[in-house]
Amino acid sequence: MPTQAPVALVTGAAQRIGAVICRTLHQAGYRILIHYRHSEAPAQVLAAELNQQRPDSAATLQADLDDMAQVDTLAAQTLAIFGQLDLLVNNASSFFPTPVTDSSQQQWDQLINSNLRAPYFISAALTPALTERQGCIINLVDIHAQRGLTGYPIYSIAKAGLQMMTMSLAKELAPAVRVNGVSPGAILWPEADAALSEGEKEALLSKVPLGRTGRPEDIAQTVLYLAQAPYISGQIVAVDGGKSLYS
Ligand SMILES: NC(=O)c1ccc[n+]([C@@H]2O[C@H](COP(=O)([O-])OP(=O)(O)OC[C@H]3O[C@@H](n4cnc5c(N)ncnc54)[C@H](OP(=O)(O)O)[C@@H]3O)[C@@H](O)[C@H]2O)c1
Repeated sequence: MPTQAPVALVTGAAQRIGAVICRTLHQAGYRILIHYRHSEAPAQVLAAELNQQRPDSAATLQADLDDMAQVDTLAAQTLAIFGQLDLLVNNASSFFPTPVTDSSQQQWDQLINSNLRAPYFISAALTPALTERQGCIINLVDIHAQRGLTGYPIYSIAKAGLQMMTMSLAKELAPAVRVNGVSPGAILWPEADAALSEGEKEALLSKVPLGRTGRPEDIAQTVLYLAQAPYISGQIVAVDGGKSLYS
């Protein structure tokens, strides 16, 4: 692998959609920095898988994005590993319901910090490096950034902020750095605290014109497309089987 292979940092990348984004970008020739918070074991397995395909083409980085000091350290470590950055994918996210009458400031902080504050400040910290490489930023938004997800007001507010961040930074960082977003619809069902019943899944799919969930590969291919689209900036592509056609 030539040393000039582009480098991508994907946050929250040990599992699920983030891991598929890593594999897709790696397949396209990127060297990959796999960021994780708690999922150390799957992150290491993914890095080993990618390094087996091409030596020295993947590394892992740990940081809790709720903590600003760790956000700064993550940015510094990112540049220390491969010495350059071409693509930042802000994928890490916390997601859980917050009924208005039963929500706390701690929940606010957790949802806003992971979905909005950290993406902003990691983007800011890495802007000089991305500028040097004429690189790009891709944010994982959500179709509910436009029409809030019932029962999830704080998450929806955070993603709406991330949508505006995408458009604002596209202006602020042009022409050196392009900034775009991908808005998934129903791709992988949430786990743990936010798990849905079968009835809730059916109700949700009844509003998807294509009648099924999408695949993580649909998201990853769109990320790759935007990474390689030199005249697209400030756009957010819905990958949702048509769901955003419904309110
Ligand atoms: N799944 C869907 O159908 C869907 C729909 C709409 C939008 N999206 C968006 O697409 C992206 C990927 O979705 P996903 O379902 O694959 O995500 P996910 O599994 O819910 O979360 C991805 C990772 O985010 C990391 N994370 C959460 N809080 C963090 C924090 N404070 N600091 C550092 N890392 C943190 C976690 O890392 P650790 O495990 O290492 O702790 C987690 O594995 C997200 O931005 C999500 O909002 C997904």
